[in-house]
Amino acid sequence: MNNHACVTGWGMYVPERVLTNQELEKLVDTSDSWIIERTGIRERRVVADHETASTMATEAARQALDRAGLEAKDIDLIIVATVSPDNYYPSCGCQVQDTLGAKRAAAFDLGAGCSGFLYALSTATQFIKTGAYRNAVVIGAEAFTRTLNWEDRGTCVLFGDGAGALVLQACQEPFGLRSFLLGADGSGGKFLYLRNLCARPGDWPENNRPQMYMDGPEVFKFAVGSMVNTAREAIKMAGLSLSDIDLIIPHQANYRIISSMTRFLKIPEDRVVINIDRYGNTVSASIPVALCEAIRDGRVKDGDNLVLVSFGTGFTWAGLVLKWGVPAEVGKRSLSQAGASRGDGQGGVK
Ligand code: ACO
Repeated sequence: MNNHACVTGWGMYVPERVLTNQELEKLVDTSDSWIIERTGIRERRVVADHETASTMATEAARQALDRAGLEAKDIDLIIVATVSPDNYYPSCGCQVQDTLGAKRAAAFDLGAGCSGFLYALSTATQFIKTGAYRNAVVIGAEAFTRTLNWEDRGTCVLFGDGAGALVLQACQEPFGLRSFLLGADGSGGKFLYLRNLCARPGDWPENNRPQMYMDGPEVFKFAVGSMVNTAREAIKMAGLSLSDIDLIIPHQANYRIISSMTRFLKIPEDRVVINIDRYGNTVSASIPVALCEAIRDGRVKDGDNLVLVSFGTGFTWAGLVLKWGVPAEVGKRSLSQAGASRGDGQGGVK
């Protein structure tokens, strides 16, 4: 029985529109230097009118399928991690399924905030490990800037839009997830939320347009300890120690959070992927986009142990160890059909 789920394709999409800190200075009472010093963000991408979570998800998925040498008809399962879908229903997953023409695929959305992509990756892996499905596409996609209050300087400077996707395939070789840890503490929900239309009307903001609320310092306090403990635990569950880890790909929420995690774990920063300066916090998309860029930059090699770790609204947290490598049985097809070489990166930033 094929009881591993390895990554055979990857892709990303970010909107063309770059919103710089200097532009934000004109919108709210903020400054480039404050944003850089307190968050590490210099610019972020923002959706154009024609772009949504599902259009970006579809583009990222197309690239990932191309790299894997798979066609839409081969897909058994599509999971889209998102908290900014185009509709309450139908799901982004169904929209992606239709646009790709993945007629055999089951499709659904999964919402766990910034931990959503790792929740989705862990979920898809279980479907493959049980033998239920062979080929899955896991996507993190967010048009999150559409949820923002552009008059609230405490939140509008932090976020950006984008999507990243991985193809998972059943394989015999021991690649893919070596461990995963998912957690939640709903008592943290009051610190970071966006009400929806089904909330009690009295819970809506006065202007009746649902907008995100965040208590930044409370989220920050939770984030650092959570990232450190989750990374440590996921590594232990994989039977490894920190010295076995080649690269950490953390959720990109704030450079200070990543840097504190790095200090507590006592790992050099060159073993951590950081791209928050160019994208801000893209919520579910942040980890797959960072992974795609790390592959493009030649930072991920066959046999590497990667740690992916995140925290998010809920509160939720997730961490996993991913053994990187494309097995010969699927890799050869991937290389010849997609014309891609392993480790050649994403190449599809719009
Ligand atoms: N520009 C200038 N000043 C600002 C800005 C801004 N953009 N935002 C806040 N300030 C001011 C505040 O008003 C405050 O001023 P005061 O001292 O006069 O009252 C001062 O800066 C300090 O504010 P804090 O909120 O204490 O600033 P802090 O250093 O905590 O940084 C930040 C704020 C960046 C939001 C930080 O708390 C943070 O990153 N928190 C975590 C956020 C996060 O990770 N969210 C994840 C969401 S993901 C999801 O699942 C949706």
